Amino acid sequence: MDADAAPGFARLMAALDPAMAIVTTAAGDERSGCLVGFHSQCGIDPPRYAVWLSVANHTYDIGRRAELFAVHFPPATEIALARLFGEDTGDDMDKFTRCGWTPGPGDVPLLDASPVRFVGRALALGTVDADHACLVLEPIEVSSADAVAQFNPMRFDAVADLHAGHAPDERRGTSG
Ligand SMILES: Cc1cc2nc3c(=O)[nH]c(=O)nc-3n(C[C@H](O)[C@H](O)[C@H](O)COP(=O)(O)O)c2cc1C
Repeated sequence: MDADAAPGFARLMAALDPAMAIVTTAAGDERSGCLVGFHSQCGIDPPRYAVWLSVANHTYDIGRRAELFAVHFPPATEIALARLFGEDTGDDMDKFTRCGWTPGPGDVPLLDASPVRFVGRALALGTVDADHACLVLEPIEVSSADAVAQFNPMRFDAVADLHAGHAPDERRGTSG
């Protein structure tokens, strides 16, 4: 993209004010998770969901060896949880000692404070010519209709001032 167009593109994306998600996963006895703004349904029949993980993140590192992921849609009130998963990195600390969670399918951590979520099986985790890799999920377990009905999602605007634990131009092994 032309450098002049980048600020306008960032403003346009921010104006969409997407709902935020927290993705968690586990591989062996390791757990990881991060705040994500890049995620979307990408199939109807069969249902599919895509999440884009920064290749700089600890979550990407663990996710490459994982089969199952939980995609949580935190309520607007859970700013502290968003800060934990968006500003801290599993490279330096265990986020799961600092929040309530329960092991789900395949021991994927399910965050107690974010009951609107689904668990998905990874179908593909690919890289493109970008700093985020696309993870495609097949939903296998979804939160109850009651939880969804009463839910007010956290949106980008509420967390736009957080400082991500890893800058998108980092690469694992060089700075993470
Ligand atoms: C507002 C906001 C949106 C973010 N969106 C994404 C995203 O879509 N994908 C991603 O991989 N990281 C995203 N991040 C960055 C990670 O959440 C952050 O670097 C985190 O500390 C990584 O943790 P980890 O190294 O333990 O995986 C976002 C951070 C913030 C503050």
